[in-house]
Amino acid sequence: MLPCFLLLISPLFCFSCLLILPLGLLCPSVCICMDYHTIDCRDQGLPSLPSSFPLDVRKLLAANNHIQTIPADLLLFYGDLIYLDLKNNSLTSIEEGTFISSSRLLFLDLSYNNLTQLDAGVFKSAEKLIKLYLGNNNLSEVHEAAFESLSSLQVLEMNDNNLQSLSVTALEALASLRTIRLDGNPWICACDFANLFFWINENAKKLQKGRILHACNIISFHA
Ligand SMILES: *[C@@H]1O[C@H](CO)[C@@H](O)[C@H](O)[C@H]1NC(C)=O
Ligand SMILES: *[C@@H]1O[C@H](CO)[C@@H](O)[C@H](O)[C@H]1NC(C)=O
Ligand SMILES: *[C@@H]1O[C@H](CO)[C@@H](O)[C@H](O)[C@H]1NC(C)=O
Repeated sequence: MLPCFLLLISPLFCFSCLLILPLGLLCPSVCICMDYHTIDCRDQGLPSLPSSFPLDVRKLLAANNHIQTIPADLLLFYGDLIYLDLKNNSLTSIEEGTFISSSRLLFLDLSYNNLTQLDAGVFKSAEKLIKLYLGNNNLSEVHEAAFESLSSLQVLEMNDNNLQSLSVTALEALASLRTIRLDGNPWICACDFANLFFWINENAKKLQKGRILHACNIISFHA
């Protein structure tokens, strides 16, 4: 490529230089930058997310890698992100504050990872989030304030995890919920399960029918 000062000589070249810069120089080499806003880094065996992207990325596809963490400042730098797909990676936890500046995020897929717990306020500030996929993880603890501020959420999937109980308080925060999946968990027959069951029945009109809850397991405490 010509040194950039030479490009200054020709207005036409300079124009193309501007077009190439954001795509060519900021697109991580392992990813495909389809346009200014969509970056596809799927199926690359990546151990972590590439360190920099075009700043105005809106859709980041990074499924089917071995990514172990979501950098806590990802959404601080890439505040235009609307769609984040991290399905089928190796995430084991979500750092506190990761979604604090995710005010535009609508879609988040974290299914097929190794998450074990969701802490209070873990998705705080993701007020616009509509779809949240957490199925096929190893979740055993979901804090009753885990979904606070997700007032726009319509779809929540937590099927095929390791949940033995879930406080119905966690779901009561989800004012816009339409579809929920909780099947494929080793529920224990106890108060939490009963409350969950009643809550789903009470909200049957607004919740889409489907696989929500399967049976619970009776645990005997007698010696
Ligand atoms: C997960 O990704 C691996 C490649 O890293 C692929 O072989 C596998 O089929 C994917 N599994 C799912 C459930 O998408
Ligand atoms: C999840 O953790 C288990 C046990 O530590 C491990 O065997 C498995 O490979 C991990 N899966 C992923 C997708 O990282
Ligand atoms: C699931 O998490 C538990 C700890 O909560 C751990 O002992 C187990 O190995 C994990 N299983 C997988 C498949 O990662």
